[in-house]
Amino acid sequence: MRVYASLKSIGSYAPEKILSNKDLEKMVQTSDEWIQKRTGILERRIASKDESTSDLGVRAAKIAIKRAGIKLEEIDGVICATLSPDYMTMPSTASVISHKLGIKNVMAFDISAACSGFVYLLNLSKALIESKMYKNLLIIGAEKISSFVDYEDRATCILFGDGGGAAIVSQTTDPNKAILDINVSADGEYGDLLITPGGGSKDPCSLNLIERRGQFIKMSGNEVFKIAVKTLTNDVIEILEKNNLSAKDIDHFIPHQANYRIIEAVRMKLGFEESKTVLTIHKYGNTSAASIPMAIDDAYSSGRIKKGDLMLLDTFGGGFTWGSALVRFGGD
Ligand code: ACO
Repeated sequence: MRVYASLKSIGSYAPEKILSNKDLEKMVQTSDEWIQKRTGILERRIASKDESTSDLGVRAAKIAIKRAGIKLEEIDGVICATLSPDYMTMPSTASVISHKLGIKNVMAFDISAACSGFVYLLNLSKALIESKMYKNLLIIGAEKISSFVDYEDRATCILFGDGGGAAIVSQTTDPNKAILDINVSADGEYGDLLITPGGGSKDPCSLNLIERRGQFIKMSGNEVFKIAVKTLTNDVIEILEKNNLSAKDIDHFIPHQANYRIIEAVRMKLGFEESKTVLTIHKYGNTSAASIPMAIDDAYSSGRIKKGDLMLLDTFGGGFTWGSALVRFGGD
């Protein structure tokens, strides 16, 4: 019998502390008006000193596991997408999360695909579940990105926020609960446009690196913006055409939350109604790999997403990486 992978449940967590545009006005030369007009962001959340990326992932995962109604022993693997891991080399954040949740003796590893991480994870889970290798996977997109943001660089510090999102992806025989199709890709040619240049093997941690502020995220915002709009649009056209669908067949358009202007440009080019587009950018900013699962949960928790609804996910991030996914919500 054919089996499908199903997004069975979703969960998210946003840290309590709010960093508003007014707060940023006191830190760098910027204004609430500029930030709102150029990005649509009003505020973002910042994790406390005691919270690391794994803690944000754990909070989101607990909700997803509870909503899926499965026992910890039924989870066959834990995979985390993050660009802000608890530790730079090891252990993986997924290992730390597994331990904190009490999940033992199953595979746990991280992937690195920047903001596209969660859609990459869905792709991986779909393959692992449809091949009947595993039945239930816990996937997490979590970021304490504030640890890698330079709060002296006004071009980047206004954009990012911390958060976590998680999902249980399970085996099903019901096509009305299935992840229909996923398309993910990358092009390393543009790696330098969005990069954390130091702290890795190429330019290891040193006093000199810290003096150059090389451990922080750098972005050529305007160039990234233009490529993001084009890629996010083409990506959706491709997946809709491949599946003989159009914008009117989609119940919820859930794009990566990087900039309201990017979302609006893509939405209008593709012809999605405003009411079908999920937005969290105003309250969370760009939470990278956590952005899409946090947006799904936001829509689910407010009663917008129901079982069987067709979601179109669309993402773009450092690498460059990008992807889109057609997903029927498989939860009850
Ligand atoms: N406050 C006030 N002025 C600012 C600020 C700020 N915070 N930041 C930049 N400026 C200034 C610049 O210095 C520049 O001034 P100048 O004209 O005197 O030189 C002017 O504003 C315009 O700068 P641009 O960079 O051209 O502004 P833009 O309209 O492109 O907005 C932004 C910048 C918001 C960063 C935008 O380019 C963007 O959102 N880029 C894409 C982000 C993205 O999609 N990233 C991918 C995912 S992230 C991931 O994978 C981790």
